[in-house]
Amino acid sequence: MYLKMIKEIEIIVENACKSNSNAFGYGIWSHHIVDVVKYAKLLAEKLNADTEIVEIAALLHDYAGIKDSTMAEEHHIYGAAEAQRILGEFNYPQEKIQKVKDCIITHRGSVPMKKLSQEAECIASADAMTHVFNVPSLLHLAYVQHGMGIDEGKEWVLNKIERSMNKLCPEAMEIVYEQYLKVRDVLSRIAV
Ligand SMILES: [Fe+2]
Ligand SMILES: [Fe+2]
Repeated sequence: MYLKMIKEIEIIVENACKSNSNAFGYGIWSHHIVDVVKYAKLLAEKLNADTEIVEIAALLHDYAGIKDSTMAEEHHIYGAAEAQRILGEFNYPQEKIQKVKDCIITHRGSVPMKKLSQEAECIASADAMTHVFNVPSLLHLAYVQHGMGIDEGKEWVLNKIERSMNKLCPEAMEIVYEQYLKVRDVLSRIAV
């Protein structure tokens, strides 16, 4: 029913990713948002969550920080406000907008909530899953964007992956665990 709206939101977010004002580069679309959408929808099926809410929230979860880097630090908060504005313009029902906003506000795990909705669980877990499946993006972030040295970057990526693993729901854990072991093995290997 809202397929056309979702397509338009996809265009809004991808265009923001292409814009010069996006400090992360286009990779945040091609190597992050697209994957978060994919894994979040996969989890939505497993958790019986509302796939429409999940897809919209996955598309918009990092939008604020992409659009304006001054919002990056608190992008979960600004992102919820952006979702309100964008979805309001599409006349999306307010109770559904609220569900999308809850997913965005809790996706980093920094805003405590008694219990995440199934939809919010899908977004938080899918966001963390992409880190485990997209190690080259993390390496790029460490070595190129943050300019870290070899060991510092490796430790940073390993820590990021460990933190991501701690955020996963059991269904997501099952999907990424094998990949996690491989990544950890490669990054921790010491030459003999
Ligand atoms: Fe985020
Ligand atoms: Fe994200």
